[in-house]
Amino acid sequence: MFTLSERPERSAASKAETYRDAAASLAAVLEGETDPVANLANASALLAAALPKVNWCGFYLLRNGELVLGPFQGKPACVRIALGKGVCGTAAARRETLVVPDVNAFPGHIACDAASRSEIVVPILVDGRLRGVLDVDAPEASRFDGDDRAGLEAFVAALVPKIDWGRL
Ligand code: SME
Repeated sequence: MFTLSERPERSAASKAETYRDAAASLAAVLEGETDPVANLANASALLAAALPKVNWCGFYLLRNGELVLGPFQGKPACVRIALGKGVCGTAAARRETLVVPDVNAFPGHIACDAASRSEIVVPILVDGRLRGVLDVDAPEASRFDGDDRAGLEAFVAALVPKIDWGRL
């Protein structure tokens, strides 16, 4: 068994393959189920198992105009993030993916796990409406690149139709 950040690293060339496998596993794991908590929990567990050198991954969900912690894998995290604050709130407010190579250089970064050095946040948009974000943290700088952005955006795109967002 490895902890979240100790699993062996896969080569950069296999990153796209990792994300293709993750999307395929997601379809299998979520088959026949649309419960939001169950599916977001399994999605975060699947990513944590699939991605090397990651110490936190999970969801913040938009509730009454702020982001509230949802299903995740990793250490306990801050519960509420205002739109426009931190990496998560900024990505949510801009409705665009943010790749942060050095979290200490990001103004207003919210440090939940002191081990985090880099981060990627993908907004979750459903029919044009912001529903939350997927946040993935790594214990090394510059962990995430364009392949991760493409892979995680595809992962979120595959996840969105598998969830009954009205039940959140
Ligand atoms: N670092 C994030 C906060 C969430 S934790 O990383 C889990 C941010 O700045 O929004």
